[in-house]
Amino acid sequence: MRNGISHAIDVVEAPASKIDSVDFDNLVFGNVFTDHMMECDYVDGQWQNPTIKPYGPIQLEPSAKVFHYGQAIFEGMKAFKDDEDQVWLFRPEANIDRFNKSSVRLAIPEFPKEMFLEGLETLLNLDRDWIKKGLGNSLYIRPFVIATEPGVSASPSKSYKFMIICSPAKAYYSGEVRVVFAEKFSRAANGGVGYAKAAGNYGAQFYPTNLAKEEGYQQIIWTDANTHEYLEEAGTMNIFFRVGDKLLTAPISDRILDGVTRKSVIALAEENNIPIEVRRVTVKEIVEAAKKGELKEIFGAGTAATINPIKGFGHMGEKYELPEQAESYAKFFKSKLMDIQYNRAEDKFDWRYLV
Ligand code: COI
Repeated sequence: MRNGISHAIDVVEAPASKIDSVDFDNLVFGNVFTDHMMECDYVDGQWQNPTIKPYGPIQLEPSAKVFHYGQAIFEGMKAFKDDEDQVWLFRPEANIDRFNKSSVRLAIPEFPKEMFLEGLETLLNLDRDWIKKGLGNSLYIRPFVIATEPGVSASPSKSYKFMIICSPAKAYYSGEVRVVFAEKFSRAANGGVGYAKAAGNYGAQFYPTNLAKEEGYQQIIWTDANTHEYLEEAGTMNIFFRVGDKLLTAPISDRILDGVTRKSVIALAEENNIPIEVRRVTVKEIVEAAKKGELKEIFGAGTAATINPIKGFGHMGEKYELPEQAESYAKFFKSKLMDIQYNRAEDKFDWRYLV
């Protein structure tokens, strides 16, 4: 409870914990869930009965609108444990604000911020043992909302379910990552839902990503839908390019997600006098920089992926490998971010939130 407001969250504890059956050293991202979850329903025009209960299946009508019209949005957040067993969230209010922005775009009622935070903190306190100490360990938090109203008329649902589930996590990608620049497919278009964390944005990427995987790439860097000349973001993260000593990243727009890790990297670059340009980045300039040996690094930035170096890229059938950097920006930002997230460094930007 913060600011004296309590939302009377009901708590039903799991009769026994599953934690002893989990191999924390060999976690595959997003496959194991903690003992509890949060659930809250939107009925009769309001969010009501927030409850924390044992993690488990939910029941929905086959006609529930989420199945037919994809009226669903989500977020990705992380909690970290420091050496003194304190649990920290990283910029949770930025995620909650984006959650509600996504909701508005999908005609879903916004979720009260205080109730979100209070529920999340209650959940994290119950499942605290699932958050392991040590750099690289975290708890991935997945809040989401789905449209639950039965009926297949194509109109916004009148009822919704908000949930938070949590998954102990290590790295998102288990191996090296190479990307291909999209030549034909697009992630988002002007006026569309690209800036929202709409479930369908991710589902729509699976087919082109599968084609890219057949060519040996793990991800696609999406280019603008109009011309395919500008590099925008990857499927699971925003993207940065280092040309010489300069860092480049695309500005957010209605096609590009306003990534929390992305904006943290930009702030850290500015704080550490790393030259950064937030502007449209062309495929042409990156390919030319790679040919001239001036493209030093590409890395992705996202909550799940953290800072993920890209080892190489493909474009128009050509493959480009990126050289190993002795002084890598990706490593620098990853370590700066983790120092803040794990309470190992001063939090000048006020990003940490004690649970
Ligand atoms: C995240 O980074 O939290 C995301 O939501 C990306 C997801 C597709 C794993």
